[in-house]
Amino acid sequence: MGLDWRRYHEATKHTPERLRRTAHALDWDNMPNPFRHYEGVPVFDLPADPAAPEIAAWDVLRGCFGTEPAADAVQLLSQLLFYSASISATKVVPSTGYRYALRVNPSSGNLHPTEFHFATRGLDGWPDGLYHYRPSQHMAEQRGRGDFGFAAPITVVLTTIAWREAWKYGDRAYRYCLLDIGHAWEAVELSGRAMGWRCSVVGSFDDGEVAARLGAAPDEWPMLILELDHATTGIGGGASDLMGGTPNELSDSPELPELIEPFHEATCGPGPEWRVEQQAGSGQPMGGRAFGETVRGRRSALDFVGGDRTMTFQQFIALLSVATVPWITVFVYVHRVAGLAPGVYKYTGDLELIRAGDQRVAAAGLSLGQGLAGNACAAFSIIADLEGVTARYGDRGYRYAHFAAGALGQRLYIAAGALGLGATGIGAFFDDRVNSYLHIDHGQVIYHFAVGYPVQDERLEA
Ligand SMILES: Cc1cc2nc3c(=O)[nH]c(=O)nc-3n(C[C@H](O)[C@H](O)[C@H](O)COP(=O)(O)O)c2cc1C
Repeated sequence: MGLDWRRYHEATKHTPERLRRTAHALDWDNMPNPFRHYEGVPVFDLPADPAAPEIAAWDVLRGCFGTEPAADAVQLLSQLLFYSASISATKVVPSTGYRYALRVNPSSGNLHPTEFHFATRGLDGWPDGLYHYRPSQHMAEQRGRGDFGFAAPITVVLTTIAWREAWKYGDRAYRYCLLDIGHAWEAVELSGRAMGWRCSVVGSFDDGEVAARLGAAPDEWPMLILELDHATTGIGGGASDLMGGTPNELSDSPELPELIEPFHEATCGPGPEWRVEQQAGSGQPMGGRAFGETVRGRRSALDFVGGDRTMTFQQFIALLSVATVPWITVFVYVHRVAGLAPGVYKYTGDLELIRAGDQRVAAAGLSLGQGLAGNACAAFSIIADLEGVTARYGDRGYRYAHFAAGALGQRLYIAAGALGLGATGIGAFFDDRVNSYLHIDHGQVIYHFAVGYPVQDERLEA
């Protein structure tokens, strides 16, 4: 039986009482493998370290298109994924020597529930078919040959494996899965744009039908379809041969907590069309830090230096310029922005001071006591009109609001990197306390974010 968004959302709020009550011990032996492989199918190499797009990160954020640097289809696919989904660094835990991979796209708890499938059509020198991206080796698993009914030359289908997040975060994990999908969407869209490709996003589709077309493992749920440059003819009709491959088991006993599956079911079914067409920006490129370097160097700050180092007002305004999204309003806890008094501001094109004074303790406290929200130069509460979006799209609208918030977060990460700052997405906060602190009577907090000067992370290897 389905579970509506209100009940799911209410049941997955963080409150101090719930945190005290739930002692969720992690079962390390049952930790899900962060990498899915489909075994027994041909695997194609994607060239490591492909040529970097020749465009500045800020110009891509402003909507400018780069020119395609790829020599052929293999290079093109390699670039698209290298700058959106691949492994970009390693961390080593000093006490144990345990190493783990970090990727271009961020993920709550670094658990990476998002899988990248893609279908190709009419690319020169690359067989039409269905592929799964293998980030651990930067390779493409060829899961089918022929026409899988996706119209664009490249169609990326993002799926989520809720168990990966739920292992750690329980029922609240579904929210993180949706936010992560939003990050991955924006990562693909920006990477495509940097190479001169336009991305259209489709969220309304028949989940069962798309899952069947992908032949994906049952623990993978399709979430978003990203069509890169659909200048070709309409949906296929050609023959297809799905080899599929055998998905690896991610852990011995995957078991979802009780609310995720019923709520996921409530969000299935296409509902009214939800499609986002990418808008081309206007104006001449302005230059600045290169796109490739910025996205490959994107990292979540462990914490920020605090003290009295300020962000300039121009940097602050530039960050806000990437944060305008339908159904979403951004509130900013200004700690240290030159020329702007500390306080909480509501941003709706203009800045409106809604609480004056030092907000460092409040911002950290509301973010579940995470100091980084107070040590940043500015922290954000991202508020979605969940009533409005679900009235329009049904429970599936809950997905869309989170996708949009995740995409906004990804733009903030890249904008911060382009401006020489660090950033961290924050999925853990006291929901109701945030709402009441910000005097919100319509809408719900769904994401937090912090931007500032990052502390050095000793665990990071290039
Ligand atoms: C949706 C989402 C929620 C996150 N929540 C938190 C958080 O509450 N606290 C935190 O320190 N980091 C948080 N992060 C950052 C992740 O821990 C980080 O992305 C992950 O460890 C991978 O590191 P990287 O971003 O440097 O690749 C979040 C990231 C995302 C995408």
